[in-house]
Amino acid sequence: MNIIVIHGPNLNLLGTREPDLYGSLTYDQLNEDIKQYGHQLDLTVMCHHYNSESDIINKIQKSPSSYSGIVINAAAYTHTSVAIRDAILSISIPVVEVHLSNIYKRESFRHHSMIADVCVGQISGFGKYSYFLALQAIKFGSVEK
Ligand code: DQA
Repeated sequence: MNIIVIHGPNLNLLGTREPDLYGSLTYDQLNEDIKQYGHQLDLTVMCHHYNSESDIINKIQKSPSSYSGIVINAAAYTHTSVAIRDAILSISIPVVEVHLSNIYKRESFRHHSMIADVCVGQISGFGKYSYFLALQAIKFGSVEK
């Protein structure tokens, strides 16, 4: 089973970006850990990062031809993007929303996700384990769209 992880804006700076919130794990280490964990679950995981909204939308649109599921951390676009929401609605493979931090413990503008109700579920607040749990959800959960 092939799964794609889509990382949104600024997540490439993990390791140095607000380490008190996001930890000291670098972007590259995070992807290594995600891929390794995926391997344990017999999943082949590809990870991509995009700062631009249009690149994220293009990737979502193309994903069904190559992947069985999407794990997305849309980062700041989570709270603003009708276009990413519409892209998720336009495809038929399951999408799981993840966040490293617990968005509900942060500023009120982060409490609303534009994509939560069009994803099969949301996992927030467990650092890299949010991604691991999302992989488990796709592998073992009832995540048919
Ligand atoms: C984030 C939370 C978002 O509010 C923020 O804009 C991010 C990262 C997280 O993983 O905790 O860039 O998605």
